[in-house]
Amino acid sequence: MTADSSWIKKVVVVGAGQMGSGIAQVFAQAGYEVILSDITEELANKGKERISKGLDRIVKKGKITEEQKNEILSRIHPTVDLENNAKDADLLIEAIIEKMEAKKDLFKKVDKILPERAILASNTSSLSITEMASVTSRPEKFLGAHFFNPPPVMKLIEFIKGYQTSQETLDIMLDLGKRLGKTPVVAVEAPGFIVNRLLMPFLNEAYFALQEGIASVEEIDTAVKLGLNHPMGPFELSDFIGLDTILYIAEYLFNEFGEDKYRPCPLLRKMVRAGKLGRKTGEGFYKYN
Ligand SMILES: NC(=O)c1ccc[n+]([C@@H]2O[C@H](COP(=O)([O-])OP(=O)(O)OC[C@H]3O[C@@H](n4cnc5c(N)ncnc54)[C@H](O)[C@@H]3O)[C@@H](O)[C@H]2O)c1
Repeated sequence: MTADSSWIKKVVVVGAGQMGSGIAQVFAQAGYEVILSDITEELANKGKERISKGLDRIVKKGKITEEQKNEILSRIHPTVDLENNAKDADLLIEAIIEKMEAKKDLFKKVDKILPERAILASNTSSLSITEMASVTSRPEKFLGAHFFNPPPVMKLIEFIKGYQTSQETLDIMLDLGKRLGKTPVVAVEAPGFIVNRLLMPFLNEAYFALQEGIASVEEIDTAVKLGLNHPMGPFELSDFIGLDTILYIAEYLFNEFGEDKYRPCPLLRKMVRAGKLGRKTGEGFYKYN
């Protein structure tokens, strides 16, 4: 059964970082009104600037016109004031830091602001949807909506069904996913869902291989790209995702499964402690300008 999502017109995206700004762009490109929020006005505005730069690149490639770019941007409204700007929203997507307590605090707050009809979704990479939903008054209208990086380019969305997510909510979001031009897959809640359940042990093993001196960063990346036909090697991909985010996910999988095979590599921990988080800080396994 497919449910109709045409009543969803206004979307709030909380967290204007790498993922939040990309998700906001996806919705604005598909014609939705988007409220883009962060901790400060400056960060919310920065998110919109990042979208503007991304759209400039698409204009240069001739895929959209300058006019279309301006129309898309005019649908994105950066703000910190959710009380006034989210009270008539139909859907909220959370893309803040990968920490359960921060996410629960946010959902407790927005549950009181958004109308009863609104669906709440988390872009979490691994955390429990059921636990986040439990602090709201609408666990049946709560689900995981896991976009991939960069959201405007990557086709996949994983929808995650929490313990109380209703089939109707899921069906509405499946319809919405198609309207966004994405290919949705559905997973029942489990640590890491589908993609990160497979990806994290793979990335972690690459860090152990590097730590043991088996080969260099470049050699391992080349081996994976040419030997496995992956578009990016594990270190390129890690720098792209952000090493802090990877460590949060890896720790979560390790704690939930309690099996040694999920133990985060000490090298990853050290690099996060050193602030070498990848592209976003200018250095991770590689250096960036
Ligand atoms: N990076 C990836 O490849 C990727 C892919 C899929 C999902 N995710 C998930 O998306 C989420 C965001 O990841 P990201 O890579 O965009 O991180 P990021 O660090 O680029 O952005 C996070 C943003 O959230 C803001 N923020 C933090 N706490 C907030 C709060 N309480 N209220 C409002 N804003 C707040 C921060 O200021 C920052 O701008 C995480 O849950 C992550 O696991 C990340």
